[in-house]
Amino acid sequence: MDLNSIQEAIETHVYHIHPDLKVPLHEHATQDEIFYCIQGSGVGILEDKEVEMHVGDVFVAPAGKKHSLKSDGNMYVTTILIPVNRIICHCKQVSYGDIRKAMVSGARTVKEIQEITGAGTECGNCIKDIEKILSLACGCKMVTVETVVNAVKGGADTVEKIGEVTGAGTDCGKCKFLLQNIIDTKR
Ligand code: FES
Ligand code: FES
Repeated sequence: MDLNSIQEAIETHVYHIHPDLKVPLHEHATQDEIFYCIQGSGVGILEDKEVEMHVGDVFVAPAGKKHSLKSDGNMYVTTILIPVNRIICHCKQVSYGDIRKAMVSGARTVKEIQEITGAGTECGNCIKDIEKILSLACGCKMVTVETVVNAVKGGADTVEKIGEVTGAGTDCGKCKFLLQNIIDTKR
């Protein structure tokens, strides 16, 4: 990756976290997210841990880890989203992106992922991670593949309709190719 593509791939946001804002636990499978508290205070939540945040504190949510923020008062944070492509299967050097690509081409089971990518075919330590990736259609909205399949079976025949019914695909949009494949294959 050259400097320009790295710069283009990095996203930044500023959020105002307040008591009425319920930020659901969510994850970014292909981005690490760094939060920096600019003003006020609050709490960063990383899976089952909570970290107090005051001005100048930094909180890091690694790719694939569920996280959220909350504040009883006001907290202004800036975030930087940095692209990463985690290696899921170290024996076969298969990344998260490779597994998602296989899903976009129709793979839904560990066996199918093994056949397409080779992941999980040696020590087997990565099988649980593969199962977790297979189960989730949309990490931003934490919508499972099962929920999307049920929406498709219930008549949602476009990516937009799936978004209306389940919320999947309505944030970063990176899962839209997978949603389309679920519509096409009904699985
Ligand atoms: S880590 Fe995937 S088979 Fe060993
Ligand atoms: S993964 Fe971001 S909207 Fe689905």
